Amino acid sequence: MADARKRLDPESTTGPVSAAQPHDSAIKHVAGEAIYIDDIPEPAGLVHACLGLSEIAHGRLVALDLEPVRAAPGVLCVLTAGDIPGQNDISSTHRHDEPVFATEMILHHGQPLFAVVAETRDQARRAALLAKAEYQETAPLLDIAAARAAGGELVTDPLKLERGDVSAALAASPRRLKGSMAIGGQDHFYLESQIALAIPGEDEDMFVASSTQHPSEVQHMVAQVLGVGSHAVTVEIRRMGGGFGGKETQANLFACVAALAARKLRRPVKLRPDRDDDMVITGKRHDFVCDYEIGFDDDGHILAVDTVYAARCGWNADLSGPVTDRALFHMDNCYFYPAVRARSEPLRTNTVSNTAFRGFGGPQGMVGAERFIEEVAFATGLDPLEVRRRNLYGGSSSSEGLGRNVTPYHQTVEDMIGGEVIAELERRCDYKARQEAIRAFNAGSPIIKRGIALTPVKFGISFTATWYNQAGALVHVYTDGTVMLNHGGTEMGQGLHVKVAQVVGHAFGIGLDQIKITATTTGKVPNTSATAASSGSDLNGMAALDACETIKARMTAFAARNWQEEPDAIAFLPGRVQIGAREIAFAELVQAAYMARIQLSATGFYATPKIHWDRKAGRGHPFYYFAYGAAAAEVAIDTLTGEYKVERVDILHDCGTSLNPAIDKGQIEGGFIQGMGWLTTEELVWDEKGRLKTHAPSTYKIPVASDRPRIFNVDLLENAPNREPTIHRSKAVGEPPLMLAISVLHALSDAVASVGGHRVCPRLDAPATPERVLTAVERVKAEVGA
Ligand code: MTE
Ligand code: MOS
Repeated sequence: MADARKRLDPESTTGPVSAAQPHDSAIKHVAGEAIYIDDIPEPAGLVHACLGLSEIAHGRLVALDLEPVRAAPGVLCVLTAGDIPGQNDISSTHRHDEPVFATEMILHHGQPLFAVVAETRDQARRAALLAKAEYQETAPLLDIAAARAAGGELVTDPLKLERGDVSAALAASPRRLKGSMAIGGQDHFYLESQIALAIPGEDEDMFVASSTQHPSEVQHMVAQVLGVGSHAVTVEIRRMGGGFGGKETQANLFACVAALAARKLRRPVKLRPDRDDDMVITGKRHDFVCDYEIGFDDDGHILAVDTVYAARCGWNADLSGPVTDRALFHMDNCYFYPAVRARSEPLRTNTVSNTAFRGFGGPQGMVGAERFIEEVAFATGLDPLEVRRRNLYGGSSSSEGLGRNVTPYHQTVEDMIGGEVIAELERRCDYKARQEAIRAFNAGSPIIKRGIALTPVKFGISFTATWYNQAGALVHVYTDGTVMLNHGGTEMGQGLHVKVAQVVGHAFGIGLDQIKITATTTGKVPNTSATAASSGSDLNGMAALDACETIKARMTAFAARNWQEEPDAIAFLPGRVQIGAREIAFAELVQAAYMARIQLSATGFYATPKIHWDRKAGRGHPFYYFAYGAAAAEVAIDTLTGEYKVERVDILHDCGTSLNPAIDKGQIEGGFIQGMGWLTTEELVWDEKGRLKTHAPSTYKIPVASDRPRIFNVDLLENAPNREPTIHRSKAVGEPPLMLAISVLHALSDAVASVGGHRVCPRLDAPATPERVLTAVERVKAEVGA
């Protein structure tokens, strides 16, 4: 019995949890059998919408002649702001600064002005180009420098984090330096672009299949635009072909336009922009300029940091507030700053409205932190890894450790394992010896130079909007013992559904083949949060477990009555239920319970404990816990062309007790490669008119299979259960590994620095494209007079 109770403990790690289960749709993904929205059998009478876009970045819409659009072949109707029965607003904040269709002011190139609906998608696309718009153009503010020069209008309230007396600490520092770093943006490049399919029902009902990470928000937006209650709108999503944050709010537009057209025509409507339109219309990762002043000593100890993180937010607020907040929450990474002041500057520009992207500002904050370290290393002549170690939270010795664990937002870091992760990775990848070998190689290699760097990651887990940290689930047990699982999380390839199914399988002692993973729908679980902030399995896993526990409690009470046993003599074991000395199949107990009229369906709910955040004061405990990791990257650059190759990467990452090591390894590899793309080859270019020039894979270079490091060792940190009682002691993994790629930027920097004998800091901005690497090589050479 003691053994049975242990198995029932939700924190134990037996059964299908913590096992390397394949993604539930893995075979369907590769066989082309997984159903994405465009694969749903098209309903009778389906028609297609296309958006008509502004051709200028900033100005007044003086006239819009849509007659040629209406007259085009196959066109059924044209929709403008005047056709909206509810509100012309889909802003995800209270600022009401995001119309569906522009009316008077145009705020970015590619802003939707109207939609046209035609019998075929091709007809709709052709017709959309026939509009004749007249504009009164104003000079657009396209980047951070221009926005600042024009007075620096903000899209949302800035944040200030402050601890200690920074001015005094800077003044008292033996050494000080100032610098600035540009950190580029990134397009999500999800393989499935934005898409929505709206099907009108009776009365005012609307069903929308939307490729969204946030079905509840799409539901609210569609209701708001149509002027109906939320109860009239159902939003469903079985899976996305990638979201990466790009479908947290950006799906709203497409869903609302499809629903608007469906309402007007009383026919099903699909809206699927092509890749170029998707890239031109939708928001991306924020690019930043990080200005900093650092005080430090000759031993490489950082004494004070004063910094401003300015972001290009685009034409409306969207998620720029929380994104720039999260940048500040990660401007410390793993490092303790005795005195610190960090301010955000979320700037309004006439470009796409930048939005969530894997890491949600955290990566940009952390890139700044690693630049501070690098500056101190070059200024003191110390090895960057040694400077990292000396500034870690907690310090290296316990006496030194006292008090060195408070973040700039006044949360105490209680679970700091960054130092151990660094030390272990250093050992595993033979860092020191390889660093020496690289120095020796470089001494004898005039053109090809190698570089190596090891960087850590500490990423805060929880939504900083505290109320978002809740989730619901709905679990039905059918009379044959099979289970239908529904929860508020969405699947975008990250393996959330299989992880939650594992939790349910473990709770009931049944196999994954007995559990049906179903589409996420607002009709089954209401008022959900976006699947974001890496918290999908933390939140929904717990909510699903809660539902299972409710059903199990009812079944246990029934079994105790029925077989006259004590309730604690009943245990759900793998493949069977123990009832005293008797063992029966789960399905058998289910059938008996049904006959006795026991309810076999339940909802579940979870709210993350412990967290609170006072934004005005810049104080609180916004994160439930931190996820850690470290990566060592080795690169080779060609100093004549700036071209480079990432030769080897070693990663050690903390997933707590992983719910599914196979999925988590995939998240680490994928996150790393996506981060590497961000920091190396992915460069967004707008021309002087504010037109995005990099709106297709021909001009926007994401990593491909051949860019994967030739040697790529990825390990999960062993025996490291989460100290907090998360679902089976696991840790969130969706975003943190992206930041492991900062090691590549620093390895490139190390290679560049070698041309100047490591005497000057290359100050390599991101993305470190071959062009930038070459420029940095030339600059470093010039500075040392080589
Ligand atoms: N992995 C895949 N394959 N596709 C995605 O779109 N999105 C990332 C990450 N991993 C994404 C992904 C982002 S931005 C987040 S926030 C998390 O997954 C969301 O899922 P989770 O909370 O279940 O980890
Ligand atoms: Mo992820 S950027 O939180 O969707």
